Amino acid sequence: MDALADLFEAARAVREKAHAPYSRFKVGAAIRGRSGRIYAGCNVENAAYPVGACAEGGAISAMVADGETGIAEILVLGWTDAHPDAPGLTTPCGGCRQRIREFAKPSTLIHVAGPEGIRRSFTLDQLLPESFGPENLA
Ligand code: THU
Repeated sequence: MDALADLFEAARAVREKAHAPYSRFKVGAAIRGRSGRIYAGCNVENAAYPVGACAEGGAISAMVADGETGIAEILVLGWTDAHPDAPGLTTPCGGCRQRIREFAKPSTLIHVAGPEGIRRSFTLDQLLPESFGPENLA
């Protein structure tokens, strides 16, 4: 099995459960924790639009609730069903890059996928260079 097939499948399955009636842009995120366990989350929108939550945040909450303290890698899968063939990268938003930063290393991989599979893989440091993190408060 492809090394990322389990993460992709977890993101694909949870994306189906996304609550995205306003944007219709469903996202699934799957984290492999340092323990090896996988945690998934989907975006959850709200009629009061700014209150909506990203998929990545949901996956991080599930990870923390399980007692896991580190992200080994994360895969984000997103597209709108109206345009399943649209190119582009569903990279984590700025806030979610910082949320990932809390539990990851500069070299941690963030895989960005579309319905057909992985499109690009970035290190956290590529997406959030010169970042502020827990060490700054030590
Ligand atoms: N969204 C995510 O959940 N993760 C991303 O990485 C990008 C965007 C969600 C937020 C909103 O519900 C919808 O996608 C459109 O922005």
